[in-house]
Amino acid sequence: MPFYQRLGDVPRKRHIQFRDNGTLLVEEVMGLEGFTGNESILYHLQSPCRVMKLDGFEPIERKEWVPDQHAHRHFKTFDVEPEGDEITGRRLLMWNSDVEISLCRPSGTMDYFFRNGEGDEVIFVHEGSGVLETIFGDVPYKDGDYVVIPRGTTYRFVPEGPQRHLVFETPGLIEIPRRYRNQYGQIMEGAPYYHRDIHPPTELRTVREKGEFPIKVRVRDGYQTYVVDYHPFDVVGWDGYLFPWTFSIHDFEPITGRIHQPPPSHQTFAGQNFVICSFCPRKLDFDPLAVPIPYHHSNLQSEEMIYYVSGNFGSRRGVEVGSITLHPSGLPHGPQPGLAEKAIGMHETHELAVMCDTFHPLKLTPLAKDLDDGKYAYSWYENAQADAGPVEDATGAGLTSHL
Ligand SMILES: [Fe+2]
Repeated sequence: MPFYQRLGDVPRKRHIQFRDNGTLLVEEVMGLEGFTGNESILYHLQSPCRVMKLDGFEPIERKEWVPDQHAHRHFKTFDVEPEGDEITGRRLLMWNSDVEISLCRPSGTMDYFFRNGEGDEVIFVHEGSGVLETIFGDVPYKDGDYVVIPRGTTYRFVPEGPQRHLVFETPGLIEIPRRYRNQYGQIMEGAPYYHRDIHPPTELRTVREKGEFPIKVRVRDGYQTYVVDYHPFDVVGWDGYLFPWTFSIHDFEPITGRIHQPPPSHQTFAGQNFVICSFCPRKLDFDPLAVPIPYHHSNLQSEEMIYYVSGNFGSRRGVEVGSITLHPSGLPHGPQPGLAEKAIGMHETHELAVMCDTFHPLKLTPLAKDLDDGKYAYSWYENAQADAGPVEDATGAGLTSHL
């Protein structure tokens, strides 16, 4: 999606003969918007349609928890038990028709291939590293990476060490915000990242192997498993604009202003009726009269979830690494009492957090109920009764500056 790429061998022109040891290769065009959107063209040793067995179809079942009260919530996710693999271990926390947000702490590894046939994925790697092996080649990843996987990409995770992922799945497209790109697609000056920060597949390894290879495909709101008789990574070359890539949250260049900059200045990705933003260590607002934390705000048309990655959140009582706060629509939120005064004179923040703002309400699952601390809604009231809590030093360490 970000720019043109080519790996391996491709013929001189599209749609002409291309052979491997005399055998005509199978050309596959993977594209969006009916041959008018971005596409990549792959050259396979075998037809990707060679299904030898259709296994069962498992529909996705989403259980909803409808809270008795509408309120701000805080979910503590850090101690969620590991289970499954990088796909089966995804535990849905909240969702709407535009995005599903899941936690994933796999306890096992994938012995099959996976393809999301009905949506794009962004996987934020909070902990862990490894290689996402894909039909486009290897995509190495490490903690702090967003792994962006367009629909239709056959892949499997080959992890190194324990993993902790925050997973976004959407029926829409994951895109670089339009305002960051010029009319030709190049990321412009002033955008918080550049093409060099985007890491496409590094190496294409063509696997020539017969056997039985299960591919689990998410499609029609369920999972259909197909078994093919040739390794799915049989591509000798591809080119185009559609491929998986990574972007590190540590490469996001934060934008700071003399007075407070709003959350869109932290936007990293654009989705279908949602955005994903990165809150990174940065200098704070520098006007002598600046209040270097946000004003109270009412997200009248959006819901805001924030996942706390690292840093010191001591000023946000009870919030810790792995916490998720959810500020639903219809309610104002802002710094806890006393904090605005305490923040004056702060120069920087060390926070690292991922935010997803959706433009339609989010539903919650029973997992959210299990992880809900039950008290966050009162935290502004509680703090009004006591000291707002320590703000650790004059640099702003401990300042959760975006709430
Ligand atoms: Fe907010």
